[in-house]
Amino acid sequence: MVSHVINHILWRFVLIIVIITLYTPNLSAAKQSKINGLKMNVIDRCWRLNPEWRRHRPQLATCSVGYTGKMTNNIGKDLIHYIVIDPSDDPINPKRGTLRYGASVIQGKVWITFQRDMHIKLERPLLISSFTAIDGRGVNVHIANNACLMIFKATNIIIHGIRVHHCKPQAPGVVMGPEGKVIPLGHVDGDAIRLVTASKIWIDHNTLYNCQDGLLDVTRGSTDVTISNNWFRDQDKVMLLGHDDGYVRDQNMKVTVVYNHFGPNCNQRMPRIRHGYAHVANNLYLGWVQYAIGGSMGPSLKSEANLFIAPTIGSKEVTWRKSNHNNGDTWEFHSVKDAFENGASFTVTKGGRVPKPNYSNEQYFKVVDVNFVRSLTRSSGILGCSKTSVC
Ligand SMILES: *[C@@H]1O[C@H](CO)[C@@H](O)[C@H](O)[C@H]1NC(C)=O
Repeated sequence: MVSHVINHILWRFVLIIVIITLYTPNLSAAKQSKINGLKMNVIDRCWRLNPEWRRHRPQLATCSVGYTGKMTNNIGKDLIHYIVIDPSDDPINPKRGTLRYGASVIQGKVWITFQRDMHIKLERPLLISSFTAIDGRGVNVHIANNACLMIFKATNIIIHGIRVHHCKPQAPGVVMGPEGKVIPLGHVDGDAIRLVTASKIWIDHNTLYNCQDGLLDVTRGSTDVTISNNWFRDQDKVMLLGHDDGYVRDQNMKVTVVYNHFGPNCNQRMPRIRHGYAHVANNLYLGWVQYAIGGSMGPSLKSEANLFIAPTIGSKEVTWRKSNHNNGDTWEFHSVKDAFENGASFTVTKGGRVPKPNYSNEQYFKVVDVNFVRSLTRSSGILGCSKTSVC
């Protein structure tokens, strides 16, 4: 009888120890983030505090905000985990183990990771299939020195933690298409990431620089895009939202640009907006040459709680507009709670109402006070995720 009671007490004791052990990693992660003085934004806080993030990579899909909403279509029981082990590239007959095989050939939900650090020189643009996540966390992956990334008529795509740079224009030719069939592809400008008729795309924590055309183009009816936590630097034309003045389908384009770090050495288009609507919030602008935000063809912009630091020499004006006299000046540029340093100025549209993003519950995020922008964008671009602590 007595031994039974002792046994019972002993088991309780064991149970308590197990519970304590299970909860300790979370406690220490929170403590660590406090020690580092890290102030994480809402996207990062969703996964970076978990020291076991490597074992739960697809959980990232629940962390997005803004027009892309949550990326939960990318995860589930039928998710295929694919590991890139081979940095080589064959644009027509991709080998198993290469990035192109995982991104273009495999259909359905795919979560792509990389076995080790890699420099991938693509022979032709990489056409990413719908329901694909490319996850470079924990390794150094460069896509550089030739063709780069393209999302062509596809949806539900995550690009996270990749360096894309020194992208070059590509002559027309055939390439493995996003549906696993070889297709002809016309001339492609040297952009790092180009979206063509794409929707529900999340581009997070990438470092993009030094490309021959632009770093990120959202074109031809693309919409529902969130561009977050990226570092854009050393570039003339940074980000284009809206294909050309004549492409009216882009009137429906909605893009969220949040927690990005622009500069140093960026010239213009951060972004340049045509037709559609952009909510640009909590970004850090380290100078520009011609302008930071511009547009034509009746674009709408809500610039909210960004920190604009004007360059020491040159234009202090954040905005630029191309007036189109046939259509009148219908641009709507609104600045709300932005901060301006070094003499920066912002020409706003007089009168009218600030166009609200009208986010749904799952798209909504709280824009924070501009005083926190420096710390919230401090880890923009590639994260150094060490093996032992939080990412
Ligand atoms: C949000 O809704 C209001 C009211 O319907 C509308 O005027 C505004 O254009 C909408 N904003 C966007 C970005 O569509």
